[in-house]
Amino acid sequence: MFFKKKKEPVEVPLRLVPRNLGIIMDGNGRWAKKRGLPRQAGHVTGAQVFRKITKYCEKCGVEYLTVYAFSTENWKRPQEEVDAIMDLLRQYLKESLADFQQENIRTRFIGDRTPLAEDIRQLMREAEETTAHKTGMTLNIALNYGGQQELTAAARVLAHRVSAGEISPEDIDEKMLEAALYTEDQPPVDLILRPSGEYRLSNFLVWQSAYAEFVFMDDILWPDFKESDLERAFEEFARRNRRFGGV
Ligand code: IPE
Ligand code: IPE
Ligand code: MG
Repeated sequence: MFFKKKKEPVEVPLRLVPRNLGIIMDGNGRWAKKRGLPRQAGHVTGAQVFRKITKYCEKCGVEYLTVYAFSTENWKRPQEEVDAIMDLLRQYLKESLADFQQENIRTRFIGDRTPLAEDIRQLMREAEETTAHKTGMTLNIALNYGGQQELTAAARVLAHRVSAGEISPEDIDEKMLEAALYTEDQPPVDLILRPSGEYRLSNFLVWQSAYAEFVFMDDILWPDFKESDLERAFEEFARRNRRFGGV
């Protein structure tokens, strides 16, 4: 269930590969600070690493990848930093439209889009439309995403359905709630990976990670992250004994 069959030769033995992976791309600011650079410089390098690692995940046979790009709490940061992150996103989306056509990756965005600038929302729609028919890995970019916000929005959708008489409160089960999340019909998350030495979820994939394995890599910051670090995480994941409440 968790491992994809071999499609093409890659360096990682495929039995180590999680089917659904979440990455908390953390440590950009500290990486920049260590070099005497503004925090934004860490985000620039972090964005390049994101592109490289995304492609490598697809090559390894990961079926679903969710990357945490901007949380619902990240608006608390200085305006200058928020603007720099939004500019990087704009740039990434513009530059990637050609890339998107070449790669076999289906790109989707999860999170609340309403506070984002209209041009960014348009680019997001274009990216999703351009890649909707792709058959390879599904890439969810979590942007203005928060697990609590996602669950609250799902509760609201179901409450509306109840008040419209479409369903009764007793009809609500895990499946129905899950279908109301941004990730809809995607399988549960197998592995959550977080570099930078923080051992927390920070409101990422709260529901989806109920039985996920966690690999916290405290010896590396996201802008230094390499393919071999991903392989290290996969090896650790393969050593875990997942029981799902059984024996
Ligand atoms: C993660 O790196 C990127 C975003 C949250 C956008 P940080 O910016 O959180 O880097 P640190 O944790 O301050 O080093
Ligand atoms: C989580 O990192 C969000 C992203 C990586 C986008 P944060 O750096 O915002 O999380 P905290 O504040 O350390 O928990
Ligand atoms: Mg951080």
